[in-house]
Amino acid sequence: MMNLGLQPLKDKNYTAASQLNVYQEQVGFVETINTILGYIDKKTHGHIIINKEEPDNEEIVGFFLIDTNYSRIYDFCSNHDLGLRSFFIDKNHQGHGYGKGAVKLLSDYLLNQYATASSVYLTVNCKNPSAKHCYEQGGFIDTGELYFGGDFGPQHIMKLSLNIGLA
Ligand SMILES: CC(C)(COP(=O)(O)OP(=O)(O)OC[C@H]1O[C@@H](n2cnc3c(N)ncnc32)[C@H](O)[C@@H]1OP(=O)(O)O)[C@@H](O)C(=O)NCCC(=O)NCCS
Repeated sequence: MMNLGLQPLKDKNYTAASQLNVYQEQVGFVETINTILGYIDKKTHGHIIINKEEPDNEEIVGFFLIDTNYSRIYDFCSNHDLGLRSFFIDKNHQGHGYGKGAVKLLSDYLLNQYATASSVYLTVNCKNPSAKHCYEQGGFIDTGELYFGGDFGPQHIMKLSLNIGLA
């Protein structure tokens, strides 16, 4: 049975995280892990997706960045919003439901980690329908807007509200 967890990237996991990889044909949808890890700073945080199927053998299956300053790049969001960047599942672990499972855990996890955030935004390439589908299954809504920046063609802008159900 799948038992997925999300955790902030810690020093002890850094080496294992730096070995994560996507298929060659997926480069363009996400950058290489070394480039991605280079974005981490005070405002951009690394997070890992862990498979806890075996309690004493937790395995890192994926990764994402949370950008707390996403509105500096994108004018479609405000400074209360988070950006989800560089979300991927390692190529050896794709197709087992981890991507969908991780997206479903996001809203509880992010509310816990970033209590003042109201929404999380992402952009997904129009040539990447499987990732878009994965995000939709986890509750992200296609805003209907396209983002034309970047080198790899237009991207859908998607949004997940984090404060649904709160008074
Ligand atoms: C997109 C990605 C995160 C999906 O993760 P995953 O663990 O492989 O996907 P899951 O097994 O959870 O499947 C989620 C859904 O996507 C579908 N899917 C997954 N890979 C697919 C593919 N290559 N083609 C078509 N559909 C696909 C699955 O069928 C499933 O839908 P269903 O439940 O309706 O059957 C993963 O493929 C990935 O890391 N891709 C490269 C990086 C990337 O594109 N990231 C997004 C950047 S915005």
